[in-house]
Amino acid sequence: MSRLIVVSNRVPVPDKRGTAPAGGLAVALQSALKTRGGLWLGWSGQSCAEDAVGPLRTVKDGNIEYALTDLTERDVEEYYQGFANRVLWPICHYRLDLAEYGRREMTGYFRVNRFFASRLLPLIQDDDLIWIHDYHLIPLAAELRRLGVKNRIGFFLHIPWPSPDVFLTMPVHDELLKGLTAYDVIGFQTDHDRNNFADCLARQDMGHRLDMTRFVVGERAFTTKSYPIGIETTEFAGLAKRAAETTLHKRMLQSLDGKELIIGVDRLDYSKGITQRIDAFETFLTRHEESQRKVTLLQITPKSRSEVPEYEAMQRAVAEQAGRVNGALGTVDWVPIRYVNRSLRRPALAGLYRMARLALVTPLRDGMNLVAKEYVAAQNEDDPGVLLLSRFAGAARELKDAVLVNPYDVEGTAEAIARSLVMPLEERRERWKSMMTVLCTNDVFAWCDTFLEDLAGGKAEESGSHSV
Ligand code: G6P
Repeated sequence: MSRLIVVSNRVPVPDKRGTAPAGGLAVALQSALKTRGGLWLGWSGQSCAEDAVGPLRTVKDGNIEYALTDLTERDVEEYYQGFANRVLWPICHYRLDLAEYGRREMTGYFRVNRFFASRLLPLIQDDDLIWIHDYHLIPLAAELRRLGVKNRIGFFLHIPWPSPDVFLTMPVHDELLKGLTAYDVIGFQTDHDRNNFADCLARQDMGHRLDMTRFVVGERAFTTKSYPIGIETTEFAGLAKRAAETTLHKRMLQSLDGKELIIGVDRLDYSKGITQRIDAFETFLTRHEESQRKVTLLQITPKSRSEVPEYEAMQRAVAEQAGRVNGALGTVDWVPIRYVNRSLRRPALAGLYRMARLALVTPLRDGMNLVAKEYVAAQNEDDPGVLLLSRFAGAARELKDAVLVNPYDVEGTAEAIARSLVMPLEERRERWKSMMTVLCTNDVFAWCDTFLEDLAGGKAEESGSHSV
């Protein structure tokens, strides 16, 4: 079996506290790599002065070897905070209004991708499979090809790919599209994303389609498919079951004092629809007064990308909003929303999912959303809770038996909360069973194997093998 090299900006370097890495990419890749092993290159999370970037730092954990590089302060500002998180992230999440294009940031983005290529090059052996992840590193394969790398290189995008009308607003859209053609396999979360990408190529008159999955652009041919990412379903279910015995679990149950728990777990990000969700919860409580004092929403929201202005503003907005609702509706012995700004360890999280009667997973746009999948896996099959899921999350395409909502429709979501809380046991069981079947079939190991089979499935497509 070929050695696997994974490259991503964020790397979940094992820490002593065992806190869960924030974000689906880190969680899923760590699970996927655990059994297969390999080399994982990425950013150390540290920034330094221009002339202080040291050699790669390596850390071994089981059969995964992490190779970490520092970036300069300018790199982090231009590539990560700038182009990745103020252009690509908002554009891919349909927030044109938040995109801040700047030449300096764009140049920084391509420069850092060149830098990653130069760090990776000395580590590559002839038959390594190289798998690059997410929007930070779109041009990486093109940079590696420029340096003469002939290995098979795959790319997986964890976030949505928008329709051409949105994508083409980006000044460097053609460079990014062309950059992607340097890969052999390009994976998306859903067919919808894959089709949007194909529509972008067609709109720009780039190459042609050979069949359902294969394209030719210039002198390169590549495969593009959807590979919906999964979780460690069986392991997570086991974790949730065991968590019921912990003291945290018992303390939490005691503090609820018979109230139903509703849970929301998201990075603090505008794409997650947290403010709309709190509005919906408030509307539900106001319209269903009999539910007041009988339910509690636990919103766990670790801070994220705090140096980016839109995120900083959001931190204030959500804290104020939760405070306002608690002030308006709370009583001396009942707080409607428990708002927590830290990340929890996975066993604790699994136990809370299992305890919750209802999960609110209502992003305005999301590549997949693994919280939705983890919530389902954590349920007690005799008395499962209900998943209320945004139709704009990639997960909604698989979890068709969730209660699907439009998160922009605050009143509709409020009514869906009310319906979910009184859903009969029989219906809850049926919905849960059908979703669990999907999660067991398409777990994170299946996701990884399917992608890597496709990636290993042929020799790199060489120049001249096809003409347009
Ligand atoms: C999303 C992205 C990941 C990213 C994660 C956390 O899941 O798809 O690439 O790592 O968010 O964001 P951060 O900026 O902290 O890495």
